[in-house]
Amino acid sequence: MPPVNLVGRPVPQIDSLPEGPYRALVLQGHELSTRTFALIGPEVKPARKRYAGNNLACTSCHQEGGAKPFAIPWVGVTATFPQYRGREDQISTVEERINGCMERSMNGKPLPLGAPEMKAFTTYIAFLSRGVPVGAQIEGAAVLQSGVPNRRADPDAGSVVYVAKCAVCHGADGMGKRVGQRGDAQGYAFPPLWGPDSFNNGAGMNRLLTTTRFIRQNMPLGASHTATVLNDDEAYDVTAFVLSRPRPLKAHLEADFPARWNKPVDAAFPPYMLGASADQHRYGPFPPLAEKQREMADRRKADLAAGKARSAADPAGAARGK
Ligand code: HEC
Ligand code: HEC
Repeated sequence: MPPVNLVGRPVPQIDSLPEGPYRALVLQGHELSTRTFALIGPEVKPARKRYAGNNLACTSCHQEGGAKPFAIPWVGVTATFPQYRGREDQISTVEERINGCMERSMNGKPLPLGAPEMKAFTTYIAFLSRGVPVGAQIEGAAVLQSGVPNRRADPDAGSVVYVAKCAVCHGADGMGKRVGQRGDAQGYAFPPLWGPDSFNNGAGMNRLLTTTRFIRQNMPLGASHTATVLNDDEAYDVTAFVLSRPRPLKAHLEADFPARWNKPVDAAFPPYMLGASADQHRYGPFPPLAEKQREMADRRKADLAAGKARSAADPAGAARGK
């Protein structure tokens, strides 16, 4: 199967859909994604609809309605799930992945699997994924896997970049700019990057490598992977600065990545498996950690292979759990 390249690929247009229940649900999913704060945010009137814990929109990160290449697009997600996820060490469905972002990026509660909002999200994502064959490899997915400097990131240098290139929109205090007033559920013109209304420390955006790449390819607003504004050093340091600031804490992060050997090196919370310091998992340098992790994975593979060889030689013993 040839890979599908999202760069330059036309995005399915809702306008092309005929009137009817399918189009209505796709529209609802689009609205939930771009105006999450107004429909399931912490300030909406009906208390039972307050699933999200912050006033971000899904599209604060999944830019352009979830269609921008290398801004963690949703195009093709329906073709790549269910998939193995290290964070759970299990196969996750699209619904479970959405709830991963609900509990972390949105610092909230999971949507019930049968909720109309869940149905709308999955339908919108499936619509965006039209034409991508199930199981296809997708180019333009996630964030561009660009290299990062092999050194400790410098939050102080990053604060200088922040003042020069980010504060005008996200605010000197990182709190973003609201559309209206606190409590009105109208969200942000420019979202907060830290503080109580931001993503929590269990979110993918709290990982320095992921977010350096996201920011490098997508910020300041208007940047893209073919039109970057920051260089590698600026992106790495400004991300370190942003992630050094306080944000909501997620409980029970020690339960993430239960198969410790595949815990990402930039997951900056304990337990740390590679004998490195908390500071190195937070700020790098990462290539030495990645090297240690590769060795750990290779050892595991060898152990597994040896185990298999043993049980082949002594099938009765293996069955007894020897
Ligand atoms: C603060 C930024 C942020 C917000 C807000 C956010 N997400 Fe995410 N999302 C991410 C990141 C980062 C990843 C990739 C994490 C990883 O796997 O390393 C991701 C991954 C996903 C994926 C899987 C994409 C793939 O290619 O596998 C889906 C689906 C998703 N998010 C849905 C949502 C939905 C629905 C919302 C709103 C309810 C939302 N996200 C809000 C940052 C965010
Ligand atoms: C011109 C205004 C503008 C500038 C300058 C800008 N951003 Fe953003 N940023 C946005 C907007 C708007 C969004 C929401 C996504 C969208 O609407 O496409 C966003 C989203 C983000 C997000 C993900 C959402 C969140 O709340 O966490 C991060 C991280 C981010 N910006 C970091 C930065 C950094 C770092 C800089 C400086 C290098 C920067 N931005 C400069 C406007 C800006």
